[in-house]
Amino acid sequence: MSFLLLDSNSIGAARLAALALAALLAYVVAKVVYNLFFHPLRKFPGPLLNRATVFRSTIEMVSGRMPFHVAALHDKYGDVVRIAPNELAFASAEAWRDIYGVRNGRELPKAPDFYFPSDNIPTSIMNAPSREEHNKLRKAIAPSFSDGAMRKQEPVISGYVDLLIQRLRENCDNGKAELDMKDWYTFATFDILGKLAFSQDFGCLAASEYHPWVKLISSLANESAQIAVFMHLGLKWFVNWVSRQPSILKARAEHIKHVKEKLEARVALGSQPDIMEGWLKEKENWNLSEDQWLLNTSQLIVAGSETTATLLCGVTYLLLTNPGALAKATEEVRTTFKSDKDITLLSVMNLPYLLACLNEALRRYPSITAVAVWQYPAYHREENFKKPYEYHPERFMGALEFAGDQLDVLQPFAVGPRDCIGRNLAYAEMRLIMARVLYNFDLGLAEKSQGWMDKQEAYSLWLKPSLYIKMTPRDASS
Ligand code: HEM
Repeated sequence: MSFLLLDSNSIGAARLAALALAALLAYVVAKVVYNLFFHPLRKFPGPLLNRATVFRSTIEMVSGRMPFHVAALHDKYGDVVRIAPNELAFASAEAWRDIYGVRNGRELPKAPDFYFPSDNIPTSIMNAPSREEHNKLRKAIAPSFSDGAMRKQEPVISGYVDLLIQRLRENCDNGKAELDMKDWYTFATFDILGKLAFSQDFGCLAASEYHPWVKLISSLANESAQIAVFMHLGLKWFVNWVSRQPSILKARAEHIKHVKEKLEARVALGSQPDIMEGWLKEKENWNLSEDQWLLNTSQLIVAGSETTATLLCGVTYLLLTNPGALAKATEEVRTTFKSDKDITLLSVMNLPYLLACLNEALRRYPSITAVAVWQYPAYHREENFKKPYEYHPERFMGALEFAGDQLDVLQPFAVGPRDCIGRNLAYAEMRLIMARVLYNFDLGLAEKSQGWMDKQEAYSLWLKPSLYIKMTPRDASS
């Protein structure tokens, strides 16, 4: 029999393999014992499997179910729960302040594993570890986000919303066509941001199609999700290895080519009243590498467009599946304005119910599901919001039924010195676009988009599928 014929080399190899296996087992057991009994987080509650190993949390991350898993853990264990050996999730308003606020002039650094997944990531406004570097970048563009600056941009933003409404009218086939609102909202938010930040849009609304780069950026959620999983497993070396593979290098080169083109075209325009102007004015004074310029540029675009498009999809779906709220929001818009032309960045401020609808959508479907406070789970805790899985804009209108809600838990734009600089712009865009859509069209959800929100995978961003709706133009005197 063959096993009797094993030579001494084979026996040696088998012994080595057995030894390696035993060593691995000993390591795993030691790690589990450490995590459960000696780890600094050992006193925090959580399921055994989450406290002992990264196995359970990794499975949930890979399947895009982590925010829902964390929500279930909060229900069972309370406001603070150990979701992995090295990780706690928080679900209270104090946690926002403690983690993101400034105390005695000091702030907590951003999580290096999340913001620097591989060795070759330059620093930028989003990840700068030093307070000075962040302040410098933020201060230079902050004036572009002031109320005054926003008002000056009214004609620009309104122009793109005009074009969006026109395109929807052309394509809706009087309520018979099923329009993919994921595409249309993405076109609008990228074009608006392109113009406001770089004085050049992406031509998406003009051509009624994706600019190749916008398509590439929209698929980033998938890639960053995979990276997050490997970082969670502590496999930074693997992320480094993956980031050197030819297919990844090719995709990155393509991305960088587009960013470079955008940046160079903007520089060639000279002084312009746009967001980039604040940074470009400092070009000679700052010692930023080319990689830093490129990363800041691309982060500005991604942060300012994908997020807003996601929320617009979310609020549209939530209104369509909550006919009472849709009827109220539509009535508010149609009775406040006599004509489509009266709807402006300033006048949409007079739509309190629409604002409540947007805030409730930011709670039910936050564009970014986790920052460090896990947003989705925190916003779906019965202790924080009554009937958390239902859509009730009334909770933001002072309704008695929701008087016990902890509204300050809702911080979809984060808090503190590194909160979202584009918050006002995002609200302005969302209010204007939704008011104009509701004013101009009667909406219906297409059969194939029923349950749109229930089927989604969530990483730090949603992997949102197409959202098909039917739009019938009103015979409004616009
Ligand atoms: C619904 C829309 C939006 C949501 C929910 C949102 C949310 C957020 C959140 C949670 C952060 C903090 C991220 C972190 O700590 O890593 C952030 C940062 C940021 N956002 Fe937004 N955002 C939105 C729209 C916008 C828009 C329209 C812009 C315009 C350019 C923008 C630009 C930025 C920038 C530049 C940062 C980094 C700020 C800093 O680190 O100082 N965002 N956003």
